[in-house]
Amino acid sequence: MKRFVLAFPGMEPLAMEIAAEIGADWAAIDLHRFPDGETLVTLPEGLAGRSVAILATLRDPNALALPLRFAAETAREFGAHRVGLIAPYLAYMRQDRRFEPGQAVSAPLFASFLEESFDWLITVDPHLHRIPELDEVFGIPARRVTSAKKIAEWIAHNIPDAIVLGPDSESQQWVSEVARLAGRPYEVLRKVRSGDRNVDISVPESGAFYDGTPVIVDDIASSGRTIVAAIARLREIGARPPVCIIIHAVFAGRAFTEILEAGAARVVTTDSIPHESNAISLGPGIGRAIPDLEEALDLPSAGMLQDGSNGTESGPMT
Ligand code: R5P
Repeated sequence: MKRFVLAFPGMEPLAMEIAAEIGADWAAIDLHRFPDGETLVTLPEGLAGRSVAILATLRDPNALALPLRFAAETAREFGAHRVGLIAPYLAYMRQDRRFEPGQAVSAPLFASFLEESFDWLITVDPHLHRIPELDEVFGIPARRVTSAKKIAEWIAHNIPDAIVLGPDSESQQWVSEVARLAGRPYEVLRKVRSGDRNVDISVPESGAFYDGTPVIVDDIASSGRTIVAAIARLREIGARPPVCIIIHAVFAGRAFTEILEAGAARVVTTDSIPHESNAISLGPGIGRAIPDLEEALDLPSAGMLQDGSNGTESGPMT
């Protein structure tokens, strides 16, 4: 029986691409918000016996968390054979340890919350820094699809003289891979964050900054302060206006405008979060990960792979 991709509001274009890649059906989930803040979730018909993938990007996780659980449980009530979650942007992964006494460690708490309603999870480039792999936080099969190949292709096609730049040490993991795949050099800047909106960036001594077009690559722009500070430093040293490639277009408040005002030549994002800057599509890569992951679940050992893992691993480069 054909798979069914169910899109949360705003995710319809990506749902179409994912469904086309794997020959699935797709439909929209309707969310009605009542004046008191409650949400009514309405699912399409025809879910009985189907393998269902709910597509919801978690840019606004607190507002989406309950509707997400209601949608998954209702799909199950309507007879879905299995219910997975495609969350191209997976929230709460940055709070992966207790930075100050008394703080909640949100990453494993949020993972447990999702596991209660979903059989599997696919996400794109989650912010895993101190947690090396998704299976450290998720007990369900979880697949990490990477955007590095698509970003590298975009760079090779649009900015052939790119100098790939990571704004901080955490970005080393994706900038080194993007640069390798694009066949371009890379540098990593240094960042010190002293508050949500206080970021200081320094640029290492290197002639590389003047040899081409700087292309800053980061996984997330939230407040935008990291990218704004990086642009300011590059301008100070006389480098060309940088192109900024962000995997997840979180852009809280005026972040997108502030990045443009700081002097970005262009801001480009993947479609993990719908935004006017989306230029790099993740649909085919996400689509291909679904049958892969479900095959792991269909193994006789009920989701455990022969190596004893739960199927969590990095997906193919997309
Ligand atoms: C940090 O480690 C991340 O890779 C991003 O650089 C960071 O989350 C961006 O946040 P903001 O836009 O608030 O500076």
